[in-house]
Amino acid sequence: MIRKVLCIVGTRPEAIKMAPVIKALQAEKNIDCRVLATAQHRGMLDQVLEFFGITPDLDLDIMRPNQSLTTLTARLLLDLDGVLQSEKPDVVLAQGDTTTVMSAALACFYLRIPFGHIEAGLRTGDIYNPFPEEANRVIAGKLARWHFAPTQGSMDNLLREGVAPANITMTGNTVIDALLMTAARTLPLDIELDPSKRLVLVTSHRRENFGEPFQNICQALKSLAERNPDIQILYPVHPNPNVKDVAYQLLGHTPNIILCAPLDYAPFIAAMKRSYLIISDSGGVQEEAPALGKPVLVLREETERPEAVDLGVVKLVGANRDTIIEQAQRLLDDPLAYRSMARGVSPYGDGKAAARIVGVLRQHFQQCE
Ligand code: UD1
Ligand code: UDP
Repeated sequence: MIRKVLCIVGTRPEAIKMAPVIKALQAEKNIDCRVLATAQHRGMLDQVLEFFGITPDLDLDIMRPNQSLTTLTARLLLDLDGVLQSEKPDVVLAQGDTTTVMSAALACFYLRIPFGHIEAGLRTGDIYNPFPEEANRVIAGKLARWHFAPTQGSMDNLLREGVAPANITMTGNTVIDALLMTAARTLPLDIELDPSKRLVLVTSHRRENFGEPFQNICQALKSLAERNPDIQILYPVHPNPNVKDVAYQLLGHTPNIILCAPLDYAPFIAAMKRSYLIISDSGGVQEEAPALGKPVLVLREETERPEAVDLGVVKLVGANRDTIIEQAQRLLDDPLAYRSMARGVSPYGDGKAAARIVGVLRQHFQQCE
């Protein structure tokens, strides 16, 4: 019997992390894998889907410029309800903690469709940090039938919350599957960089940093660039207007800071490989960089990804201007401090997460026969 699995993706990181799962499902002869793009992101989602050769079967085209979280959620719920009622999937899968994922879990719950949560169990324990992702993943986790936890720590979080052990599988993070699939391919980086300068790669987009914290981050980057003429800062700017407008205004005129549009996934991996140091508030980058041996200073007060921090290869620096400058300067000046953080370790997976996730579904479908 053929079973229908609907994979839902909304934003860039979801597409990157779902791509290996979609590929693995497409290779199963008894599974009809359907892909639904909510397109909570438009340009950034399309880039990734195209890179992995994935054409969505359905597209909700939800993105509107700078829409509120309430509007986004309301529109997602209504549209997802319609699609789920007409598609009638046996299982729905979604990854992470965006508003797309929380809405997908809730829409499935109302229709009693079993929902599998990929990258389950990440927690900071603070509902406002990151905002709104901590709440999104707690809600998705409450409603999920299957919890695909990337690490022992995320599995323990779920067990502490009372999730039945039989419903949790430790899989590793599919971000490493995607990274290994991509690192094996040619990676063009079409940006002219000065080979004599050390590259500092930056990304930033977290909502809890909007406003003053993000201005502090920009001031720290400007100051680092001015104090260190031997570095070049490459900052692919997230298109969220709360980020983009401020970044271009504060950093657009510093000679050794290159601002650019978001890079396609493969060139971004190339930029990470080429970098000396990464400064970022991205979840995905915190997972990828350690596997590439690149130190990351995380522009956040806390993280739901403590594994790399515990290993000493990722450090939290928050959004305080002086702390960012001090910690980055230390890594630029002190080779020993740098070397202790630049170790190639991969606490987030071994590249086989997608196979494990599909294995759980295969077993479930066999038991239903
Ligand atoms: C979203 C997720 C966040 C995730 C991040 C990954 C929510 C609430 N936030 O944040 O968890 O870490 O994606 O990048 O789910 N925009 C474009 N083009 C794009 C994408 C976004 O112009 O391709 C602009 C639009 O004006 C859009 C705005 O950015 O309205 C915000 O997008 P949204 O998805 O709501 O939030 P992000 O900050 O991107
Ligand atoms: N990324 C990309 N281009 C960029 C910046 C990031 O392809 O210009 C990739 C990166 O490799 C990682 C993912 O996007 O896999 C992270 O996405 P983002 O930081 O937007 O979201 P988060 O992971 O914080 O949810």
